Amino acid sequence: MSSPKSSLKKAFKTIIIPRIRVVIVGLLLIIVSKSASFVAPMAMRSFIDELIPNQDLVGIKNLVIIVLIALVIQAVTSFMLTKLVSVQAQYLITELRAEVQRKVLSLPVRFFDNTQSGALVSRVMKDVEGVKSLVGTGLVQLIGGLFTAAVAFVLLIRISPPLTLFSLAPLALFAVVAIKAFSVVRPVFRERGKIEAEVKGRLTETLAGIRIVKGFHAEKSEEASFNKGIHRLFDNIKKSMIYMALVSSSSILLAGIATTVITGIGGYYIINDQLTLGAFLQFTFLLGLLISPIFQLTSVGTEITDALAGLDRTEELLAEVSEYDTSGSKAFKEPLEQLRFEGVSYAYEEDQLVLKDINLEVKRGEVVALVGTSGAGKSTLASIAASYLTPTQGSLWVNGNPMSDLSLSDYRSKLGVVLQDDFLFDGTLKENLLFVKPDASDNALEEALKAAHVKEFVDRFENGIETVIGERGVKLSGGQRQRVAIARALLANPELLILDEATSSLDTESEALIQQSLATLTKGRATIVIAHRLSTIRNADKIVVLEKGEIVEQGAHEDLFEKKGRYFDLYTRQAKI
Ligand SMILES: Nc1ncnc2c1ncn2[C@@H]1O[C@H](COP(=O)(O)OP(=O)(O)O)[C@@H](O)[C@H]1O
Ligand SMILES: [Mg+2]
Repeated sequence: MSSPKSSLKKAFKTIIIPRIRVVIVGLLLIIVSKSASFVAPMAMRSFIDELIPNQDLVGIKNLVIIVLIALVIQAVTSFMLTKLVSVQAQYLITELRAEVQRKVLSLPVRFFDNTQSGALVSRVMKDVEGVKSLVGTGLVQLIGGLFTAAVAFVLLIRISPPLTLFSLAPLALFAVVAIKAFSVVRPVFRERGKIEAEVKGRLTETLAGIRIVKGFHAEKSEEASFNKGIHRLFDNIKKSMIYMALVSSSSILLAGIATTVITGIGGYYIINDQLTLGAFLQFTFLLGLLISPIFQLTSVGTEITDALAGLDRTEELLAEVSEYDTSGSKAFKEPLEQLRFEGVSYAYEEDQLVLKDINLEVKRGEVVALVGTSGAGKSTLASIAASYLTPTQGSLWVNGNPMSDLSLSDYRSKLGVVLQDDFLFDGTLKENLLFVKPDASDNALEEALKAAHVKEFVDRFENGIETVIGERGVKLSGGQRQRVAIARALLANPELLILDEATSSLDTESEALIQQSLATLTKGRATIVIAHRLSTIRNADKIVVLEKGEIVEQGAHEDLFEKKGRYFDLYTRQAKI
């Protein structure tokens, strides 16, 4: 994690410098606004020391007008300032959110295996809000406060150096306390964002898995884990609140002491004619102008600390390497003719190979079926073909080019994937189908629905294809979901089709139906299919038997069956059940 200094520097470079014009206008406005705030206390002195004793009514009238004008200027400039910087800050937040979301989506699948999605949601929505404090209110208050304090200080010294010294001594003490407290609180704030993201992440997962939670009657344990999380959050907040309370109460105490001290000393000076009453009142006014921004600074300090912590996490995420950064650049527009695995090995964890030296070819128009017991590595192999994973050793060749040379986005555009637990978005059926091909014609849509046997059940829905299917498609049965997923793949018309247990939730009857459409579905493209029921892949051009990450047999159904090897075992064992 970077230090606050370096993150401030970075924030300056990436956030402030590009908006230097807004910042300069903002600074001018704040200087005008804060300068206007000095008019009233300055007027106070001549009011008491000159105008009242001389009974100068015209002078008083002029003074009142001047003070009123200053007040209007102050109000107008501070309004413009807020409008300018706050709008700018919100715009920046919007831009940053877009950037972070784009980045998140560009990260490799592996990244998501290791990161809670709830935490990522925080990254996108919450952490970026920190810029508001930097560009917006925080920075403006900081600079405005420093400006006011500096001017007030000079004016105070001009009135009475010793009085200034006496009143500022308690303030200096306060500064020490505040700085100390902030150095303690800063790491606590950094921790807070992390805890919040974790708790939110877990809650999101609990809700997504509500059926499992209820099914295993695990509400109590989820409750306990949530409670643990929010209490960690509470402890964190408590810790920072204690220090913040220390800062604010010591500020009240020390300000009180300062006021008492100057009342005493000021009274002494006035009686000894070393200070006029007007000058004394002006002094107390100015001291107020000096003190209040300093106290404000402490809350701004908290805000900026918080903001920098959030931006640090944003920065960390933006520094992740996106998969497109590492992909090749060679355009790949021609049709996919051949996919070849050459000596491909893969390990999720170091030294634990789940695929070992795979050599395999899939051609256009061919269906290659992967079979094997669960955990054999079938899905991993399919994920490599889908370019979700990059081989640890060996490589994937496409049309005779190493995959790593090709443009990833060109390759992906040729891909269609149907998974066992296929993902449907909360929305209508139609939206779920069209998201792979927004410009698909009604005809194409109709065809896909028919071929995947979606039509049968959709026609029974009151709203037909406009039916809302709920988050993750929960309002459909497993088999219906899979049929929708297959229709979606059909609509996408991919050149490489990957079906990973895509028909496992179908009953035998609908599977037989789908089987017929799969024959159409696989025509003219390369297909990799992983099927739960071996009877469904009998017609594959090539059946590949995987065992503990290695290819132990491959060939057509009849050949393998006659061979009475691993495939035969798997097949007959399944037939018995
Ligand atoms: N994301 C992952 N992280 C770590 N290990 C994984 C991951 N996915 C799968 N594995 C492991 O890789 C092996 C092969 O898994 P997989 O390819 O899903 O098998 P299959 O699809 O044949 O059932 C298994 O031992 C599994 O535990
Ligand atoms: Mg699998």
